[in-house]
This record gives sequence, structure tokens and C-alpha cells, in this order.
Amino acid sequence: MLYKRNPQLNRHGELIHLLSIEGLPRAVIHQILDTAETFLSVNDREVKKVPLLRGKSVFNLFFENSTRTRTTFEIAAKRLSADVLNLDIAKSSASKGESLLDTIANLSAMHADMFVVRHSESGAPYLIAQHCAPHVHVVNAGDGRHAHPTQGLLDMYTIRHYKRDFTNLTVAVVGDIVHSRVARSDIHALTTLGVPEIRAVGPKTLVPGDLREMGVRVCHDMAEGIRDADVIIMLRLQNERMNGAMLPSAGEFFKSFGLTEQKLALAKPDAIVMHPGPINRGVEIDSSVADGRQSVILPQVTFGIAVRMAVMSILAGNEA
Ligand code: CP
Repeated sequence: MLYKRNPQLNRHGELIHLLSIEGLPRAVIHQILDTAETFLSVNDREVKKVPLLRGKSVFNLFFENSTRTRTTFEIAAKRLSADVLNLDIAKSSASKGESLLDTIANLSAMHADMFVVRHSESGAPYLIAQHCAPHVHVVNAGDGRHAHPTQGLLDMYTIRHYKRDFTNLTVAVVGDIVHSRVARSDIHALTTLGVPEIRAVGPKTLVPGDLREMGVRVCHDMAEGIRDADVIIMLRLQNERMNGAMLPSAGEFFKSFGLTEQKLALAKPDAIVMHPGPINRGVEIDSSVADGRQSVILPQVTFGIAVRMAVMSILAGNEA
């Protein structure tokens, strides 16, 4: 019954779309992380290719801007030997008013096998998954404030790489949580993987109180929030999603919640600092921390290729 209700899984509980981390079984998350581990070494080969998606067509549809996600999906698909098409949305007929589903129907007529979709509307990838042919797989590359599942998965890969075991960790997610699809995906993944102490840290206007119902500790004081943390995930202030003044100023925010070396000293000495990017230096994180010895921000990007290869290869191997 559980799997019938989850549009991401077939009746055998196998992944057929990746739309959200919410509702993904722990075993599926581990399958993706373990598969990514096997792909990491492909990056170091002279010929950086494996044939798992040979003959398949992957369409990247980014209705919102992206540097890391779009590029690493393209690299990942090419390393799997797929044919990759990046639709330039600004120059596409979406600008003439063609609907999302008509766009999808036309690209499906070109024999698309996989759509990687970023959209400002929460739920757009779900809508596409409901309307495309059974053999077509949909990957959510970030929808509105809702979910960014591959970022969540690469964040879990990064944490596992540096900390090994999820079940003894304190993880602090800091900043603009209310607008962050990354925070939502991370918190669902951390919960599913059994992290005992998850803290949501930020001003009252930027941290949803209902996170407490998920067992998350809400902290409106930075020192309390990051004290003795093993992992600190900093988030970008998403000014483009803020209606009106939710903050006094970027300077005030940095004073209270920006991560500096002085504040980082409150966390465990071997704590790692993560950020999904793009970074607002001097707003949510000081450059000395972003570029410092505890930062794993650039390894996150590298791991993203292996994680996206894992997601696409697993999807391509499963039938609806
Ligand atoms: N982390 C992330 O989603 O970055 P981009 O917006 O550059 O893809």
C-alpha cells in the first residue's frame, strides 16, 4: 500500500522518479549513496565514461537559473554515456506562452527518456511525472521552496564521507530555512537516516516553528544552535523569495547568524562546514570560513556528480 501511494516508487519499492526525499525509504537512500561511491572513481579515470545510459536521451529543463545543479547533471549524464539536451528556456517557446505540459509532450515526442527539471513552482516535477509515458523518468532538480532531493542526497553523501555514521551526529542547519528547499530535503534525509540531534538555527522570521513536530530542535540563538555540532549546513539568504522585510538588514543578519571563525570555534573541533551554494560572502558566511580548513563546500560539488550519476543510473534500471 505504501509504495502504491508514493509516485516515486514502483510496486516493488524501486525508484522510478526522484521527486522528493520525503517518503523515500532509508534503504533507497543508502542504495543511492552506495552506488555514488562506486562512481566517484570514474572522475579520476583517463576516459571518464561508463556505458550505463548509452542510447538514452536526458533533457535538462531549467526554468530557474543554476550553476552547480545543471552543470553537474550534464556532466553526470555524459559520464553515463547518455545524449544530453539542455533546453534554453529563455529562448524556448515557453516564452511565447507554451504550457509546461505541452512543452513536455513535444519533448516526449522527440523520444526523451529522462527529464531533469528545475522550476520556481513547487510541484512542477510531480505534474510532469503524472503526465509522461511510463518509461520516462523525472528528476526534481529543485522546485520552488519544496524540495531539492539531489542536493539533499549529495549533502548526505558528504556527511557520510567525512563522519561515517549518521547515528551519533549533531547537525545544525543555519539561516533562511523557511525559503530553502535544500533545508527541507536535508532535514527529511537526516531524519530518515537516524541523526539524533537536528537543529534549525535562525531568526524567528526565517525558521518555521512546525519543524519541532519533526523532532527538530529550533534555536533562535546562533551560539546555542552550533555549540558542539559535528556538521554545520549554512544556507543562502533567498532574497528573491522574500516578500517584504523579513530581516532588518544583511549586516544585522551576519552579526547574529553569519558564520565566522569565532562562532565556528563553538562547534566540535573537527566539525565540517557545508553550503549548497551560491554563497553570499559576508552575509551568511565569512570568507575565512568558506575557504577555511573545515569547509567542504567544493567537495560537495564534486560529490554531486557521482550522486547524480547514481540517481540517473538507478532510475534507468527500473520500470514503472
Ligand atoms: N546548490 C544549487 O542548487 O546550486 P545552483 O542553484 O547553482 O544549481
